[in-house]
Amino acid sequence: MHLPQGPVTYKYIEVGKTLYQAVSTRTPRFPPRVAYVMLNSLFEEEREPITVYDPFCGNGVILCTAYLLFSQKIKKIIGTDLHPVVLETARRNFQWLKEQNALEERLRAIQAYKTENDELKTSYQERCRLMFNHAQQVHLDVELLQRDATQIQEHLASIDGEVALITDPPYAHNDHWNPRDGLKSADFGPLEPFLQGVVEAPNVATLLICYRVDQPIRKLLETYFAVTPLGGTKGRAIYRCERR
Ligand SMILES: C[S@@+](CC[C@H](N)C(=O)[O-])C[C@H]1O[C@@H](n2cnc3c(N)ncnc32)[C@H](O)[C@@H]1O
Repeated sequence: MHLPQGPVTYKYIEVGKTLYQAVSTRTPRFPPRVAYVMLNSLFEEEREPITVYDPFCGNGVILCTAYLLFSQKIKKIIGTDLHPVVLETARRNFQWLKEQNALEERLRAIQAYKTENDELKTSYQERCRLMFNHAQQVHLDVELLQRDATQIQEHLASIDGEVALITDPPYAHNDHWNPRDGLKSADFGPLEPFLQGVVEAPNVATLLICYRVDQPIRKLLETYFAVTPLGGTKGRAIYRCERR
């Protein structure tokens, strides 16, 4: 098979174009630029290779970006999600990055797209080949598990060494969202029990979280952590949370 060489950037990593998307769920397409900005700010300080863990990993955009672009700074990659369909999609995404048969299947799936023109399909396929080729140099253990993030404390206790949590959690329920008055904890869904689990875990070096800019979450994060806003991109604000 023709395998082109060349640099890979976050722009290649797009759900539904290069990465598989869990079509049977309504998981929105997560912008790879947000993943890139979060990972970049995690690694801009010198640090020993660390375990990168996304507890709401969905299709795996953050983790695939970490795998392709930051592998030298990572000890291990862990992704968990409650939903078996999205988790399986994240697995398939790592599979085609690692195995040629799975890449060929991905290329055929793109070829079968009904709605795109041939030029676009060829460009997605070329990007997949480049990503695959690049990924052959990466030798990182990737663990994808079905777990409830509200029980993260137990899972963190079983992980050796320090962990960087980096995640795009489910957003608050729009029907109940009131930015002026704030929200009752129930409106945040699994987020608050997740934060409670994280703040009590001794091996979490940092938590990077992105959230829709129109849903101000800072007050909630500050209940548990010292919070540094890191700006934002693509309609998401990014926060670094550290233990006080
Ligand atoms: C905003 S999406 C994340 C999308 C992801 N960034 C991607 O690349 O596709 C939030 C994810 O949280 C998952 N989720 C919801 N409640 C959860 C829980 N209690 N534990 C773990 N995952 C959960 C959903 O299944 C969904 O995949």
